[in-house]
Amino acid sequence: MVGLAGVVMNKKTIKDLDLVDKKVIVRVDFNVPLDDSGSVNDEARIKAAMPTIQYILNHGASKVILMSHLGRPKGVVVDSLRMDPVAKELARLLGREVEKLDDCVGKKVKDAVEASDKRVILLENLRFHPQETKGDEAFARELASLADIFVNDAFGTAHRAHASTTIIAKFLPACLGFLVDKEIKSLSCALTPEKPYVVILGGAKVSDKITVISNLMERANTLIIGGAMAYTFLRAKGEGTGSSRVEEDKVSLAKEILEKANCLGIKILLPVDHLVVSAIDKPETKRFTEKLIGGDIAVDIGPKTVNYFKQELEGAKTVLWNGPLGIFENPHYCEGTKEIASMLADLESATVIVGGGDSAAAAKEFGVAGKLAHVSTGGGASLEFLEGKTLPAIAAVPNK
Ligand code: 3PG
Repeated sequence: MVGLAGVVMNKKTIKDLDLVDKKVIVRVDFNVPLDDSGSVNDEARIKAAMPTIQYILNHGASKVILMSHLGRPKGVVVDSLRMDPVAKELARLLGREVEKLDDCVGKKVKDAVEASDKRVILLENLRFHPQETKGDEAFARELASLADIFVNDAFGTAHRAHASTTIIAKFLPACLGFLVDKEIKSLSCALTPEKPYVVILGGAKVSDKITVISNLMERANTLIIGGAMAYTFLRAKGEGTGSSRVEEDKVSLAKEILEKANCLGIKILLPVDHLVVSAIDKPETKRFTEKLIGGDIAVDIGPKTVNYFKQELEGAKTVLWNGPLGIFENPHYCEGTKEIASMLADLESATVIVGGGDSAAAAKEFGVAGKLAHVSTGGGASLEFLEGKTLPAIAAVPNK
């Protein structure tokens, strides 16, 4: 693994503000998965906010007020989406008590913040109020009235122009936390890469990744395409796809991408063999094949493809991995994704950046996340960043 090269960014960060005796409100992305008993299933996003929270506590702030959404309750109170399990996990990770409030705005909340003898306060799920996702100014102003400084450390919601992510920055001195700062610097390496640059794209749909492909195509030397989206490309090349999932309405788009890559001299690597089954829920029917016919449903890349992809990755200086190469969450179909993930972890010559969402989940599942230069905490946000879009919550923070 190679470290991330420094990328110049001009946004104010938490290090630029004096926090002494200040109440600091921090937008975090504590939208974490919960298990059947309602406990936090994966604390990665809570852990990722720790450096910012600890820094604020260690630099004299009187209070840290944390706010997040959890799930998509659509503007009403949903008891199973209350922040209590998050508060519990947060207290465990911080090793200190956390005051969890039952709402995020209103007089009671304001009084409770003032009266609390705890330095860390967690507000209730922001999305219990419809004003949050509407980017309502009055709601943002109410959140702002709880504090003296606003810190945005929620990279996962940086693509949302919501009240707590973006609009609130109008009403308080605003800056970025360490997580957002690191995400921007790391993902920027995938936009200004050291070459050779190999981009691995997987996942279900070409349509989900098309803008990323367009934006990265001219920067990359090679695109490796796996996952279900590879079958739309194989169809575009006139190859058999059996009964694998193909987006029929995207075949001509895939053809255009293949032609453009050819003109630009960019290599596109597609699977050359496949793990197939007759039905997704019949792992006992699995076998490897180079030719997809009849009822073959591809669920993973085959061993020849693994080697083919690995050879291309050998000499890379920068690798971006966005999307799994098969149905990795099913242990019967995870081998291809696992092999590539393990190779990326051992790739000494390259800076490896993992986009969020499924590829981040796969990196964690296969125990390699800690060995990669950067694993993004943002799914949609990292995708939009890699598409070259301006993320509103980052744009809202002033420059130094
Ligand atoms: C995520 O999980 O990607 C973020 O928390 C954003 O959630 P959202 O897609 O519901 O806005």
